[in-house]
Amino acid sequence: MIVCVCHRVSDKSIVQHALEGKGFDEIQFELGVASQCGRCEDCARDIIDTCHAQSGAAQHGWQAVSLSLSR
Ligand code: FES
Repeated sequence: MIVCVCHRVSDKSIVQHALEGKGFDEIQFELGVASQCGRCEDCARDIIDTCHAQSGAAQHGWQAVSLSLSR
């Protein structure tokens, strides 16, 4: 799905960058998302926040598993 019509940025591109640990400002700089009309900003931020929340949960889950294995 195209999130940013002005720069033809897809949700997949945003997800890929967010999962690399990049924040909104970096993604905006690299992809141009939300840098013209701005109508895509809320959607882009939601995607990035969701990715960071999920990857954070995954990291915490892995840390919990690592700690329980090391005991
Ligand atoms: S739709 Fe993204 S800047 Fe216009």
